[in-house]
Amino acid sequence: MAKVKTAYFCQNCGHEAPKWLGRCPSCNEWNTFVEEVITKSSKDISAFSKDSQSKAKPQQIHKIQDIPVQRIKMVDLELNRVLGNGLVPGSLILFGGEPGIGKSTLMLQMAMQEKAKNILYVSGEESEQQIKMRASRIGNLNENCYLLTETLLQHIFTHAKQLDPDFIIIDSIQTIHSEHIESSPGSISQIRECTAQLLRYAKQTETPIFLIGHITKEGSLAGPKVLEHMVDTVLQFEGDRNHVYRLLRSIKNRFGSTNELGIYEMLGDGLRQVENPSEILISTNKDKLSGSAIAATLEGLRPMLIEVQALVSTAAYGTPQRSATGFDLRRLNMLLAVMEKRCGFKLGAKDVFLNIAGGIKVDDPAIDLAVVAAILSSNADIAIEKNICLSAEVGLSGEVRPVNRIDQRVSEAEKLGFDKIIISKDNKGIKQSDFKIEVVECSRIEEVLRELFG
Ligand code: TYD
Ligand code: MG
Repeated sequence: MAKVKTAYFCQNCGHEAPKWLGRCPSCNEWNTFVEEVITKSSKDISAFSKDSQSKAKPQQIHKIQDIPVQRIKMVDLELNRVLGNGLVPGSLILFGGEPGIGKSTLMLQMAMQEKAKNILYVSGEESEQQIKMRASRIGNLNENCYLLTETLLQHIFTHAKQLDPDFIIIDSIQTIHSEHIESSPGSISQIRECTAQLLRYAKQTETPIFLIGHITKEGSLAGPKVLEHMVDTVLQFEGDRNHVYRLLRSIKNRFGSTNELGIYEMLGDGLRQVENPSEILISTNKDKLSGSAIAATLEGLRPMLIEVQALVSTAAYGTPQRSATGFDLRRLNMLLAVMEKRCGFKLGAKDVFLNIAGGIKVDDPAIDLAVVAAILSSNADIAIEKNICLSAEVGLSGEVRPVNRIDQRVSEAEKLGFDKIIISKDNKGIKQSDFKIEVVECSRIEEVLRELFG
């Protein structure tokens, strides 16, 4: 085996050192040194002075031929949509998520569904028996799926070359190591080197590769941003482990939009695709309960009705508690301040708890108005009618602000049998005559309160 030269580089400023250093002598940052492979000698830096032959030539952009990408349609429609309407040959996909969220389950399930494809599932985490057990649980074994429990990258390539699979799944990138690098599996240099090699393999053989990656406690993919830069697509699997719903999002996609969202339900026999999310996210409880409001939100291009629940109670201790599940705490504090200032509610001495039903995290600002409504409903202990939903952002001066794609939100609410939707007056382009549902336009939160509570 040829000896590969390595050196240590500061990840902050690029300073090179032959040994690992705790503190970079150049930029004074701590703990930034990482071992990297030096493939070529750095002697000949002045490439400019020498003529070298390159196969690639600069071309005028309009003369470049369009070659339509042949996308591989997946059986799993949620995955298909999130990938941007199919899988692009030769793409490298990073699939991240917290431990235990269901990454291995989703990938294995995909491997079982794609019956017409040869699939190589490489696992460095579980034994063959464990994976077989899980596959049997999902059911419907695919005989074209090959399992390989191996962690050495070079061996994986040997098998991949023999088998020539249609796609490869690596579970997980943190367990794979290359023999060219001495550091332990999971270290940045190993992850980076293995990903680079896999990328080369994917591009040369046009084989799509899924890399499963763990997420650190802070919520970023372990092995910093290095990985995200290298791959074509970054998918993230989210959800609350104690809830059954899982969201599949794309954070980066070179071949499609990052707006799409896939929703799954974790059942005893694998993940079920959820086609109509609104129906499951709204409680079927027919009783009127205070502190609950329905928001018409949009996740990517998908309208979704979500239930917001709030509990307001007198603070037992000096400092009031504020807690939000599935909603940004800072935004909650801002909305509370707006309610206090603009509508005169004394929320300063109250505990406020907020929860988005179904364990889902929502970023869409259109949920603001429902949050305000839920809090005020709990505060006054008056229930909001079950047939009303809301969709608008709330501004700092208590104004009700417009949101995008309002027609989609209104149609979804109508489809689910709501009788009234409250939106912003500034949302242009909504004609009451187009809808059966009553569209109420408000410009300030006081008006919304009058509309809801009389
Ligand atoms: P797993 O795919 O191992 O998570 P990850 O690879 O992201 O670490 O999923 C683990 C959880 O999923 C585990 O707690 C059991 C649950 N599960 C089900 O509820 N139903 C199933 O059919 C399977 C296979 C797993
Ligand atoms: Mg796993």
